[in-house]
Amino acid sequence: MTRRTFIPALSAAFLAKSATQPTINAARLREHIEKLSECGRLPGGTFADGVSRVAYSDADVAGRTYVMSLMVAAGIMPKIDSAGNISAVRSGSGNLPAVLIGSHIDTVPEGGILDGALGVLAGLECLHAIGEANATPRRPLVMVAWSDEEGRYGSLFGSRAFCGRLDVAALSTMAATDGERLVDAMARAGFDASRAPEARAPDGAVHAYVELHIEQGPRLDEAGVPIAVVDSIVGVRRTRLIFTGQADHAGTTPMERRRDAFLAAAEYSLKARELIVERGGGRSVTNIGVVQVHPGVSNIVPGRAELVHEMRSPDAETLDRLAEACDTLAREIGLRRTIGVEVRRMSTTTPVTCSPKVQGAVETACTQLGLGWKTLYSAAGHDAQNLALLTDSGMLFIPSRGGKSHRVDETSDPAAIERGANVLLHTLLTLAR
Ligand code: HGY
Ligand code: MN
Ligand code: MN
Repeated sequence: MTRRTFIPALSAAFLAKSATQPTINAARLREHIEKLSECGRLPGGTFADGVSRVAYSDADVAGRTYVMSLMVAAGIMPKIDSAGNISAVRSGSGNLPAVLIGSHIDTVPEGGILDGALGVLAGLECLHAIGEANATPRRPLVMVAWSDEEGRYGSLFGSRAFCGRLDVAALSTMAATDGERLVDAMARAGFDASRAPEARAPDGAVHAYVELHIEQGPRLDEAGVPIAVVDSIVGVRRTRLIFTGQADHAGTTPMERRRDAFLAAAEYSLKARELIVERGGGRSVTNIGVVQVHPGVSNIVPGRAELVHEMRSPDAETLDRLAEACDTLAREIGLRRTIGVEVRRMSTTTPVTCSPKVQGAVETACTQLGLGWKTLYSAAGHDAQNLALLTDSGMLFIPSRGGKSHRVDETSDPAAIERGANVLLHTLLTLAR
């Protein structure tokens, strides 16, 4: 054996000798989840377990700082891109496209401590465990915490930027429903929103993406199954509807002469729900979580009412058909009530199917760990659906106790969290081979 081939064999043997099987440190992961939840933790009482860490807020910035400190502690250097995505790389032995794992640390207002945070911290724990075991996978492993997944300013913002899917012209007008502009929020957190498109990943840089998340619904918990392999993710369509009537005196204006914008909005809200439940094929859902009435005082007939209507379906054609039917419904109500109606599309994410390769890697991991699984579609939107437009992308879920999420009492069993992190680790090692 010539000297040259001898040395690689020795180093492989050396690596094999010193490399051990990476294992998840469940106590360390639980501690990190607890510590991150302190960034934006809600005051005690009924909110005791909740958190508000909306994108680019002070709580989010504190959470980012904490996550970056954990990356350094895990021996991987954090990097922040121009959309605010935080990433860190565990180098591989080969100079190959990377395997990405990610999720988000921003939350909804008065949300739970696991939505997003679980995937980021479990992913970090995987890279930490791999480093501690001296195991060097063939492919680089990249951990990402995506910006504004919850879409306070525009849905799945950070991963959209990474996947080159931002509507650049809209950046300057993107705003939260309370009116705060993305440009101002990002500037406050130290970012220049106009540079967000620079976060776009180079073509071919990503070999696969996998995300661990809580199910956020009741199916796994009620089935008593520990893991879900996600086969598809719903599309989400958000529309702002503006109903314009006539402000009038709430006492002196005769009832038959009132052009009450709120009543038109209320009739639309009820009838849109009936329409989507009846014609949505059984897996479409609808929600109106934002209602703004103007001028918004009790003694003026509402001159204007605005709604943000969100609808979801695993099927793109169904989503288009329902959106069209709802637009027609709004116009019909406006005509009948002599109320002006304006329909403005806010954001749309397309339903995606998850990569069979990633699904297979998750199933292999479950088999290796002796865990049962079931295949589910995701009724929540996720960054993984943007990554699906770029690479082999997939997800795995652990059960949400009682199916609770986007509420302060969102929780999962500690054993479920440990199982999820271990399945993520084994999935990662399979994809990184
Ligand atoms: O709203 C969702 O579907 C996710 O939690 N962002
Ligand atoms: Mn989430
Ligand atoms: Mn969420």
